[in-house]
Amino acid sequence: MDKFVIRGGNPLLGTVRVSGAKNAALPAMAAALLTDEPVILENIPQVRDIVTERNLLAAMGAEVELGYGRAHHRTTINCGTVNNPEASYDLVKTMRASTLVLGPLVAKFGRARVSMPGGCGIGARPIDLHIKGLESLGAAITQDHGYVEARTDRLRGGHIVFDKITVTGTEDLLMAATLAEGETVMENCAREPEVADLGELLIKMGAHIQGHGTSTIKIKGVTKLHGAKHRIIPDRIEAGTFIIAAAVTGGDLNVTNCDPNHIASLLSKLEEVGVKIVRNHDSVRVIGNGDYKAADIVTEEHPGFPTDMQAQYMTLATQSEGTSIVTENIFENRFMHAQELVRMGANIKIEGRRAIVRGKTPLSAAAVLASDLRASASLVIAALVAEGETIIDRVYHIDRGYERIEEKLRGVGAEIKRLGEVFPKKVAMPAAQTT
Ligand code: EPZ
Repeated sequence: MDKFVIRGGNPLLGTVRVSGAKNAALPAMAAALLTDEPVILENIPQVRDIVTERNLLAAMGAEVELGYGRAHHRTTINCGTVNNPEASYDLVKTMRASTLVLGPLVAKFGRARVSMPGGCGIGARPIDLHIKGLESLGAAITQDHGYVEARTDRLRGGHIVFDKITVTGTEDLLMAATLAEGETVMENCAREPEVADLGELLIKMGAHIQGHGTSTIKIKGVTKLHGAKHRIIPDRIEAGTFIIAAAVTGGDLNVTNCDPNHIASLLSKLEEVGVKIVRNHDSVRVIGNGDYKAADIVTEEHPGFPTDMQAQYMTLATQSEGTSIVTENIFENRFMHAQELVRMGANIKIEGRRAIVRGKTPLSAAAVLASDLRASASLVIAALVAEGETIIDRVYHIDRGYERIEEKLRGVGAEIKRLGEVFPKKVAMPAAQTT
Protein backbone atom coordinates (compact mmCIF):
# COMPACT_ATOMS: atom_id res chain seq x y z
CA MET A 1 0.00 0.00 0.00
CA ASP A 2 1.46 3.39 -1.00
CA LYS A 3 2.74 5.54 1.82
CA PHE A 4 4.18 9.01 2.19
CA VAL A 5 7.11 9.60 4.54
CA ILE A 6 7.29 13.26 5.53
CA ARG A 7 9.83 15.00 7.78
CA GLY A 8 8.26 18.17 9.12
CA GLY A 9 9.77 21.58 9.82
CA ASN A 10 10.62 23.06 6.42
CA PRO A 11 8.81 26.25 5.39
CA LEU A 12 7.43 26.02 1.83
CA LEU A 13 9.32 28.55 -0.31
CA GLY A 14 9.09 29.38 -4.03
CA THR A 15 6.45 28.77 -6.69
CA VAL A 16 4.02 25.90 -7.20
CA ARG A 17 1.76 25.54 -10.23
CA VAL A 18 -1.83 24.35 -9.85
CA SER A 19 -3.24 21.72 -12.22
CA GLY A 20 -6.63 21.66 -13.92
CA ALA A 21 -9.70 21.02 -11.74
CA LYS A 22 -10.67 17.35 -11.28
CA ASN A 23 -14.24 18.40 -10.48
CA ALA A 24 -14.48 20.37 -13.74
CA ALA A 25 -12.71 17.76 -15.89
CA LEU A 26 -15.02 14.88 -14.86
CA PRO A 27 -18.33 16.50 -15.99
CA ALA A 28 -16.59 17.89 -19.10
CA MET A 29 -15.50 14.38 -20.11
CA ALA A 30 -19.07 13.11 -19.54
CA ALA A 31 -20.39 15.96 -21.72
CA ALA A 32 -18.55 14.45 -24.70
CA LEU A 33 -21.26 11.76 -24.70
CA LEU A 34 -23.70 14.42 -25.99
CA THR A 35 -22.11 14.55 -29.47
CA ASP A 36 -20.73 12.19 -32.12
CA GLU A 37 -17.91 14.64 -32.85
CA PRO A 38 -14.55 14.87 -31.05
CA VAL A 39 -14.33 16.96 -27.87
CA ILE A 40 -10.83 18.19 -26.99
CA LEU A 41 -10.19 19.14 -23.37
CA GLU A 42 -7.00 20.85 -22.20
CA ASN A 43 -5.50 21.42 -18.71
CA ILE A 44 -6.71 17.94 -17.69
CA PRO A 45 -5.11 16.91 -14.36
CA GLN A 46 -3.18 13.64 -14.35
CA VAL A 47 -5.03 12.06 -11.44
CA ARG A 48 -6.59 8.64 -10.82
CA ASP A 49 -10.22 9.78 -11.17
CA ILE A 50 -9.50 10.96 -14.73
CA VAL A 51 -8.21 7.48 -15.60
CA THR A 52 -11.38 5.98 -14.09
CA GLU A 53 -13.51 8.35 -16.20
CA ARG A 54 -11.48 7.38 -19.28
CA ASN A 55 -12.08 3.69 -18.55
CA LEU A 56 -15.80 4.36 -18.00
CA LEU A 57 -16.21 6.04 -21.40
CA ALA A 58 -13.99 3.49 -23.17
CA ALA A 59 -16.11 0.66 -21.73
CA MET A 60 -19.11 2.23 -23.51
CA GLY A 61 -17.23 2.16 -26.81
CA ALA A 62 -15.89 5.74 -26.83
CA GLU A 63 -12.40 6.51 -28.16
CA VAL A 64 -10.55 8.39 -25.45
CA GLU A 65 -7.01 9.59 -26.04
CA LEU A 66 -5.49 10.66 -22.73
CA GLY A 67 -2.16 12.39 -23.19
CA TYR A 68 0.41 11.14 -20.69
CA GLY A 69 3.79 12.32 -19.62
CA ARG A 70 4.64 15.88 -18.64
CA ALA A 71 3.80 17.55 -21.98
CA HIS A 72 0.26 16.31 -22.11
CA HIS A 73 -2.66 17.54 -20.03
CA ARG A 74 -5.06 17.06 -22.88
CA THR A 75 -7.70 14.51 -23.82
CA THR A 76 -9.55 13.94 -27.08
CA ILE A 77 -12.84 12.09 -26.67
CA ASN A 78 -14.88 10.70 -29.56
CA CYS A 79 -18.24 9.26 -28.50
CA GLY A 80 -19.42 8.66 -32.07
CA THR A 81 -18.50 4.99 -31.50
CA VAL A 82 -20.46 4.54 -28.24
CA ASN A 83 -22.58 1.38 -28.48
CA ASN A 84 -23.16 0.41 -24.85
CA PRO A 85 -24.74 3.18 -22.71
CA GLU A 86 -23.92 1.47 -19.41
CA ALA A 87 -21.80 2.42 -16.37
CA SER A 88 -20.91 -0.75 -14.52
CA TYR A 89 -20.78 -1.20 -10.74
CA ASP A 90 -17.07 -2.08 -10.95
CA LEU A 91 -16.29 1.43 -12.18
CA VAL A 92 -18.98 3.42 -10.35
CA LYS A 93 -18.00 1.92 -6.98
CA THR A 94 -14.48 3.39 -7.40
CA MET A 95 -15.76 6.88 -8.27
CA ARG A 96 -19.22 8.29 -7.46
CA ALA A 97 -18.84 11.01 -10.08
CA SER A 98 -19.35 8.23 -12.65
CA THR A 99 -23.08 8.89 -12.17
CA LEU A 100 -22.52 12.09 -14.21
CA VAL A 101 -22.99 9.98 -17.36
CA LEU A 102 -26.65 9.25 -16.53
CA GLY A 103 -28.12 12.51 -17.92
CA PRO A 104 -25.95 12.69 -21.08
CA LEU A 105 -26.58 9.00 -21.94
CA VAL A 106 -30.37 9.10 -21.67
CA ALA A 107 -30.48 12.48 -23.48
CA LYS A 108 -28.29 11.30 -26.37
CA PHE A 109 -29.14 7.57 -26.67
CA GLY A 110 -32.65 7.47 -25.19
CA ARG A 111 -31.49 4.91 -22.65
CA ALA A 112 -28.94 4.52 -19.88
CA ARG A 113 -28.07 1.83 -17.32
CA VAL A 114 -25.96 3.22 -14.50
CA SER A 115 -24.94 1.53 -11.28
CA MET A 116 -26.15 3.21 -8.08
CA PRO A 117 -23.06 4.62 -6.35
CA GLY A 118 -23.61 2.99 -2.91
CA GLY A 119 -22.28 4.39 0.38
CA CYS A 120 -19.31 6.75 0.72
CA GLY A 121 -16.91 7.46 3.59
CA ILE A 122 -18.01 11.08 3.96
CA GLY A 123 -21.77 10.57 3.82
CA ALA A 124 -24.80 8.76 2.35
CA ARG A 125 -24.64 10.82 -0.86
CA PRO A 126 -27.81 9.54 -2.61
CA ILE A 127 -28.58 10.52 -6.26
CA ASP A 128 -32.34 10.91 -5.73
CA LEU A 129 -32.25 14.52 -7.00
CA HIS A 130 -30.59 13.43 -10.26
CA ILE A 131 -33.34 10.85 -10.77
CA LYS A 132 -36.15 13.22 -9.78
CA GLY A 133 -34.83 15.82 -12.22
CA LEU A 134 -34.64 13.35 -15.11
CA GLU A 135 -38.19 12.20 -14.39
CA SER A 136 -39.38 15.82 -14.66
CA LEU A 137 -37.74 15.90 -18.10
CA GLY A 138 -39.88 12.93 -19.06
CA ALA A 139 -37.48 10.01 -18.56
CA ALA A 140 -38.97 6.69 -17.38
CA ILE A 141 -36.75 5.53 -14.52
CA THR A 142 -36.59 2.11 -12.92
CA GLN A 143 -34.16 0.79 -10.33
CA ASP A 144 -33.24 -2.87 -10.03
CA HIS A 145 -30.31 -5.01 -9.00
CA GLY A 146 -28.41 -1.89 -7.92
CA TYR A 147 -28.79 -0.15 -11.27
CA VAL A 148 -30.78 2.87 -12.45
CA GLU A 149 -32.38 2.33 -15.86
CA ALA A 150 -33.55 5.45 -17.68
CA ARG A 151 -35.48 5.46 -20.96
CA THR A 152 -37.09 8.08 -23.22
CA ASP A 153 -37.92 8.67 -26.90
CA ARG A 154 -36.67 12.22 -26.35
CA LEU A 155 -36.42 14.28 -23.16
CA ARG A 156 -38.72 17.27 -23.02
CA GLY A 157 -38.05 20.64 -21.34
CA GLY A 158 -39.33 21.10 -17.80
CA HIS A 159 -39.14 23.08 -14.58
CA ILE A 160 -36.74 21.70 -11.98
CA VAL A 161 -36.43 23.13 -8.46
CA PHE A 162 -33.71 21.26 -6.58
CA ASP A 163 -34.80 20.38 -3.01
CA LYS A 164 -31.16 20.73 -2.03
CA ILE A 165 -28.21 22.36 -3.81
CA THR A 166 -26.27 19.60 -5.53
CA VAL A 167 -23.17 20.13 -7.69
CA THR A 168 -23.19 16.98 -9.82
CA GLY A 169 -27.00 16.99 -9.78
CA THR A 170 -27.00 20.43 -11.40
CA GLU A 171 -24.32 19.32 -13.89
CA ASP A 172 -26.13 16.06 -14.77
CA LEU A 173 -29.45 17.78 -15.46
CA LEU A 174 -27.79 20.70 -17.24
CA MET A 175 -26.21 18.25 -19.70
CA ALA A 176 -29.47 16.32 -20.16
CA ALA A 177 -31.53 19.46 -20.81
CA THR A 178 -29.28 20.57 -23.70
CA LEU A 179 -30.83 17.90 -25.97
CA ALA A 180 -34.38 18.05 -24.56
CA GLU A 181 -37.29 19.32 -26.65
CA GLY A 182 -38.16 22.85 -25.54
CA GLU A 183 -36.99 24.97 -22.64
CA THR A 184 -35.87 23.84 -19.19
CA VAL A 185 -35.65 26.15 -16.18
CA MET A 186 -33.61 24.90 -13.22
CA GLU A 187 -33.77 26.67 -9.85
CA ASN A 188 -31.77 26.38 -6.61
CA CYS A 189 -28.82 25.25 -8.73
CA ALA A 190 -25.24 24.87 -7.55
CA ARG A 191 -23.12 27.96 -8.34
CA GLU A 192 -19.71 26.30 -8.13
CA PRO A 193 -17.10 27.49 -10.70
CA GLU A 194 -17.02 23.93 -12.05
CA VAL A 195 -20.73 24.19 -12.97
CA ALA A 196 -20.09 27.47 -14.77
CA ASP A 197 -17.13 25.92 -16.61
CA LEU A 198 -19.32 23.04 -17.81
CA GLY A 199 -21.84 25.58 -19.11
CA GLU A 200 -19.06 27.27 -21.09
CA LEU A 201 -18.06 23.97 -22.71
CA LEU A 202 -21.67 23.07 -23.58
CA ILE A 203 -22.19 26.49 -25.21
CA LYS A 204 -19.05 25.85 -27.30
CA MET A 205 -20.71 22.55 -28.33
CA GLY A 206 -23.75 24.49 -29.57
CA ALA A 207 -26.02 24.45 -26.50
CA HIS A 208 -28.30 27.40 -25.59
CA ILE A 209 -27.74 28.12 -21.91
CA GLN A 210 -28.19 31.17 -19.69
CA GLY A 211 -27.39 31.60 -16.01
CA HIS A 212 -24.79 28.85 -15.51
CA GLY A 213 -22.91 29.72 -12.32
CA THR A 214 -26.04 31.30 -10.81
CA SER A 215 -28.98 29.70 -8.91
CA THR A 216 -31.26 29.81 -11.96
CA ILE A 217 -30.22 28.24 -15.26
CA LYS A 218 -32.30 28.35 -18.46
CA ILE A 219 -31.63 25.87 -21.29
CA LYS A 220 -33.26 25.87 -24.73
CA GLY A 221 -32.88 22.31 -26.03
CA VAL A 222 -31.37 21.60 -29.47
CA THR A 223 -31.55 18.45 -31.61
CA LYS A 224 -27.78 18.08 -32.05
CA LEU A 225 -24.52 19.22 -30.45
CA HIS A 226 -21.13 19.38 -32.18
CA GLY A 227 -17.50 18.92 -31.14
CA ALA A 228 -15.49 21.61 -29.35
CA LYS A 229 -12.17 22.46 -27.74
CA HIS A 230 -12.11 23.71 -24.16
CA ARG A 231 -9.54 24.54 -21.47
CA ILE A 232 -10.57 23.30 -18.01
CA ILE A 233 -10.43 25.83 -15.12
CA PRO A 234 -7.67 25.51 -12.48
CA ASP A 235 -8.26 23.39 -9.40
CA ARG A 236 -9.33 25.82 -6.65
CA ILE A 237 -9.15 23.08 -3.99
CA GLU A 238 -5.59 22.14 -4.94
CA ALA A 239 -4.73 25.85 -4.81
CA GLY A 240 -6.36 26.16 -1.37
CA THR A 241 -4.47 23.11 -0.14
CA PHE A 242 -1.06 24.59 -1.09
CA ILE A 243 -2.05 27.98 0.36
CA ILE A 244 -2.86 26.44 3.76
CA ALA A 245 0.30 24.28 3.62
CA ALA A 246 2.39 27.43 3.11
CA ALA A 247 0.62 29.24 5.96
CA VAL A 248 0.99 26.34 8.42
CA THR A 249 4.72 25.88 7.63
CA GLY A 250 5.41 29.63 7.92
CA GLY A 251 6.45 29.68 4.27
CA ASP A 252 6.45 32.22 1.44
CA LEU A 253 4.78 30.60 -1.54
CA ASN A 254 3.52 31.78 -4.91
CA VAL A 255 0.62 29.57 -6.03
CA THR A 256 0.24 30.06 -9.78
CA ASN A 257 -2.30 29.09 -12.46
CA CYS A 258 -5.21 29.65 -10.07
CA ASP A 259 -8.13 32.11 -9.89
CA PRO A 260 -8.31 33.91 -6.51
CA ASN A 261 -11.98 34.71 -7.15
CA HIS A 262 -12.79 31.00 -7.04
CA ILE A 263 -11.55 30.81 -3.43
CA ALA A 264 -12.61 34.23 -2.12
CA SER A 265 -14.29 32.83 1.03
CA LEU A 266 -11.19 30.81 1.90
CA LEU A 267 -8.78 33.72 1.36
CA SER A 268 -10.79 36.14 3.48
CA LYS A 269 -11.03 33.53 6.26
CA LEU A 270 -7.23 33.07 6.17
CA GLU A 271 -6.74 36.83 6.43
CA GLU A 272 -9.08 36.84 9.45
CA VAL A 273 -6.84 34.17 11.03
CA GLY A 274 -3.75 36.34 10.32
CA VAL A 275 -2.24 34.88 7.15
CA LYS A 276 -0.78 37.45 4.72
CA ILE A 277 -2.34 36.98 1.28
CA VAL A 278 -1.42 38.82 -1.94
CA ARG A 279 -3.95 38.28 -4.76
CA ASN A 280 -2.88 38.62 -8.38
CA HIS A 281 -4.77 37.97 -11.61
CA ASP A 282 -3.94 34.27 -11.81
CA SER A 283 -1.89 33.60 -8.71
CA VAL A 284 -1.89 34.00 -4.94
CA ARG A 285 1.18 34.73 -2.78
CA VAL A 286 1.02 33.43 0.80
CA ILE A 287 3.35 34.73 3.48
CA GLY A 288 2.99 32.70 6.64
CA ASN A 289 4.32 33.76 10.05
CA GLY A 290 2.85 31.02 12.26
CA ASP A 291 1.19 33.61 14.49
CA TYR A 292 -2.49 32.85 13.93
CA LYS A 293 -5.67 33.40 15.91
CA ALA A 294 -8.61 30.98 16.00
CA ALA A 295 -11.64 31.54 13.77
CA ASP A 296 -14.78 29.47 13.18
CA ILE A 297 -15.88 28.13 9.81
CA VAL A 298 -19.17 26.75 8.54
CA THR A 299 -19.05 24.81 5.28
CA GLU A 300 -21.60 25.92 2.70
CA GLU A 301 -22.34 25.71 -0.99
CA HIS A 302 -20.39 28.12 -3.22
CA PRO A 303 -19.64 30.99 -2.73
CA GLY A 304 -19.59 29.94 0.95
CA PHE A 305 -16.65 28.13 2.60
CA PRO A 306 -16.02 24.93 0.58
CA THR A 307 -16.46 21.60 2.33
CA ASP A 308 -13.49 20.32 0.27
CA MET A 309 -11.25 22.73 2.25
CA GLN A 310 -12.67 21.87 5.69
CA ALA A 311 -10.09 19.17 6.57
CA GLN A 312 -7.13 21.29 5.48
CA TYR A 313 -8.50 24.26 7.46
CA MET A 314 -8.83 22.04 10.54
CA THR A 315 -5.07 21.41 10.43
CA LEU A 316 -4.45 25.18 10.36
CA ALA A 317 -6.86 25.59 13.30
CA THR A 318 -4.66 23.23 15.37
CA GLN A 319 -1.88 25.83 14.89
CA SER A 320 -4.02 28.88 15.77
CA GLU A 321 -4.28 30.44 19.25
CA GLY A 322 -7.71 29.82 20.79
CA THR A 323 -10.77 27.71 19.99
CA SER A 324 -12.00 27.30 16.40
CA ILE A 325 -15.40 25.69 15.79
CA VAL A 326 -15.52 23.84 12.47
CA THR A 327 -19.11 23.10 11.37
CA GLU A 328 -19.62 20.68 8.46
CA ASN A 329 -23.01 21.38 6.87
CA ILE A 330 -22.67 19.54 3.56
CA PHE A 331 -21.70 15.96 4.45
CA GLU A 332 -22.76 14.10 7.57
CA ASN A 333 -19.52 12.16 8.16
CA ARG A 334 -16.59 14.32 7.11
CA PHE A 335 -14.42 14.40 10.23
CA MET A 336 -12.45 11.18 9.68
CA HIS A 337 -9.18 13.17 9.65
CA ALA A 338 -9.81 14.59 13.16
CA GLN A 339 -8.85 11.43 15.06
CA GLU A 340 -5.69 11.07 12.97
CA LEU A 341 -4.76 14.69 13.82
CA VAL A 342 -5.41 13.91 17.50
CA ARG A 343 -2.93 11.02 17.14
CA MET A 344 -0.39 13.70 16.11
CA GLY A 345 -1.11 15.71 19.24
CA ALA A 346 -4.01 17.95 18.19
CA ASN A 347 -6.81 18.85 20.63
CA ILE A 348 -10.08 18.24 18.76
CA LYS A 349 -13.51 17.21 20.10
CA ILE A 350 -16.29 16.13 17.76
CA GLU A 351 -19.88 17.00 18.69
CA GLY A 352 -22.13 15.88 15.87
CA ARG A 353 -21.44 18.15 12.87
CA ARG A 354 -19.15 20.41 14.89
CA ALA A 355 -15.46 19.94 15.63
CA ILE A 356 -14.07 22.01 18.50
CA VAL A 357 -10.38 22.62 17.79
CA ARG A 358 -8.23 24.08 20.60
CA GLY A 359 -4.86 25.46 19.63
CA LYS A 360 -2.06 26.13 19.34
CA THR A 361 -0.79 22.59 19.94
CA PRO A 362 2.62 21.37 18.73
CA LEU A 363 2.18 18.36 16.43
CA SER A 364 4.48 15.35 16.59
CA ALA A 365 5.08 12.72 13.94
CA ALA A 366 3.04 9.49 14.00
CA ALA A 367 1.82 6.74 11.69
CA VAL A 368 -1.56 7.90 10.37
CA LEU A 369 -4.18 6.60 7.94
CA ALA A 370 -5.73 8.54 5.05
CA SER A 371 -9.49 7.86 4.75
CA ASP A 372 -10.55 10.06 1.84
CA LEU A 373 -9.13 12.54 -0.64
CA ARG A 374 -9.29 15.77 1.39
CA ALA A 375 -8.62 14.04 4.73
CA SER A 376 -5.33 12.80 3.27
CA ALA A 377 -4.45 16.36 2.22
CA SER A 378 -5.01 17.60 5.80
CA LEU A 379 -2.65 14.87 7.11
CA VAL A 380 0.05 15.81 4.59
CA ILE A 381 -0.16 19.44 5.80
CA ALA A 382 -0.01 18.33 9.45
CA ALA A 383 3.06 16.20 8.71
CA LEU A 384 4.80 19.18 7.09
CA VAL A 385 4.68 21.04 10.43
CA ALA A 386 5.00 18.10 12.83
CA GLU A 387 8.20 17.41 14.71
CA GLY A 388 9.81 14.24 13.30
CA GLU A 389 8.97 11.80 10.48
CA THR A 390 5.29 11.00 9.80
CA ILE A 391 4.14 7.99 7.79
CA ILE A 392 0.82 8.40 6.00
CA ASP A 393 -0.74 5.15 4.80
CA ARG A 394 -3.27 4.64 1.95
CA VAL A 395 -2.16 7.69 -0.01
CA TYR A 396 -3.87 6.24 -3.07
CA HIS A 397 -6.73 8.43 -1.86
CA ILE A 398 -4.66 11.53 -2.57
CA ASP A 399 -3.72 10.39 -6.10
CA ARG A 400 -7.39 10.54 -6.95
CA GLY A 401 -7.38 14.32 -6.93
CA TYR A 402 -3.85 15.73 -6.57
CA GLU A 403 -1.38 15.53 -9.45
CA ARG A 404 2.17 14.54 -8.35
CA ILE A 405 1.68 16.25 -4.97
CA GLU A 406 4.91 14.89 -3.49
CA GLU A 407 6.96 16.25 -6.43
CA LYS A 408 5.26 19.63 -6.26
CA LEU A 409 5.89 19.86 -2.48
CA ARG A 410 9.51 18.72 -2.84
CA GLY A 411 9.91 21.48 -5.46
CA VAL A 412 9.19 24.09 -2.75
CA GLY A 413 11.33 22.59 0.00
CA ALA A 414 9.28 19.84 1.64
CA GLU A 415 10.96 16.61 2.78
CA ILE A 416 8.52 14.07 1.40
CA LYS A 417 8.92 10.73 -0.32
CA ARG A 418 6.55 8.06 -1.51
CA LEU A 419 6.97 4.41 -0.64
CA GLY A 420 5.33 2.55 -3.48
CA GLU A 421 4.70 3.24 -7.15
CA VAL A 422 4.55 6.85 -8.36
CA PHE A 423 1.24 7.91 -9.94
CA PRO A 424 0.65 8.52 -12.78
CA LYS A 425 2.47 5.65 -14.42
CA LYS A 426 2.09 4.63 -18.06
CA VAL A 427 -1.34 2.88 -18.13
CA ALA A 428 -2.32 0.25 -20.75
CA MET A 429 -5.50 1.28 -22.64
CA PRO A 430 -8.35 -1.26 -21.92
CA ALA A 431 -9.79 -3.03 -25.04
CA ALA A 432 -12.99 -1.26 -26.28
CA GLN A 433 -16.27 -3.21 -25.73
CA THR A 434 -17.30 -5.06 -28.92
CA THR A 435 -21.01 -5.86 -28.24
C1 EPZ B 1 -19.40 17.47 -5.54
O1 EPZ B 1 -19.93 16.23 -5.07
C2 EPZ B 1 -17.87 17.30 -5.53
N1 EPZ B 1 -17.52 16.20 -6.42
C3 EPZ B 1 -17.40 17.00 -4.12
O2 EPZ B 1 -15.97 16.96 -4.13
C4 EPZ B 1 -17.83 18.14 -3.21
O3 EPZ B 1 -17.50 17.82 -1.89
C5 EPZ B 1 -19.36 18.35 -3.31
O4 EPZ B 1 -19.75 18.55 -4.67
C6 EPZ B 1 -19.82 19.56 -2.51
O5 EPZ B 1 -19.16 20.70 -2.91
C7 EPZ B 1 -17.47 16.43 -7.76
O6 EPZ B 1 -17.73 17.50 -8.26
C8 EPZ B 1 -17.08 15.27 -8.62
P1 EPZ B 1 -23.51 17.33 -3.87
P2 EPZ B 1 -21.50 15.92 -5.23
O7 EPZ B 1 -24.45 16.57 -4.76
O8 EPZ B 1 -22.03 16.59 -6.43
C9 EPZ B 1 -26.90 15.68 -0.96
C10 EPZ B 1 -13.83 16.09 -3.68
O9 EPZ B 1 -13.24 16.03 -2.59
N2 EPZ B 1 -27.54 15.10 -2.17
O10 EPZ B 1 -23.38 18.79 -4.11
O11 EPZ B 1 -21.67 14.46 -5.10
C11 EPZ B 1 -25.56 15.03 -0.64
O12 EPZ B 1 -25.71 13.85 0.08
C12 EPZ B 1 -15.33 15.72 -3.75
O13 EPZ B 1 -13.30 16.44 -4.75
C13 EPZ B 1 -28.77 14.46 -2.03
O14 EPZ B 1 -29.32 14.34 -0.93
O15 EPZ B 1 -22.08 16.64 -3.93
C14 EPZ B 1 -24.85 16.13 0.14
O16 EPZ B 1 -25.22 16.08 1.48
C15 EPZ B 1 -15.83 15.10 -2.50
N3 EPZ B 1 -29.33 13.93 -3.15
C16 EPZ B 1 -25.36 17.40 -0.52
O17 EPZ B 1 -26.56 17.04 -1.21
C17 EPZ B 1 -28.76 14.04 -4.40
O18 EPZ B 1 -29.32 13.53 -5.39
C18 EPZ B 1 -24.40 18.04 -1.51
O19 EPZ B 1 -23.92 17.04 -2.35
C19 EPZ B 1 -27.53 14.71 -4.50
C20 EPZ B 1 -26.94 15.24 -3.37
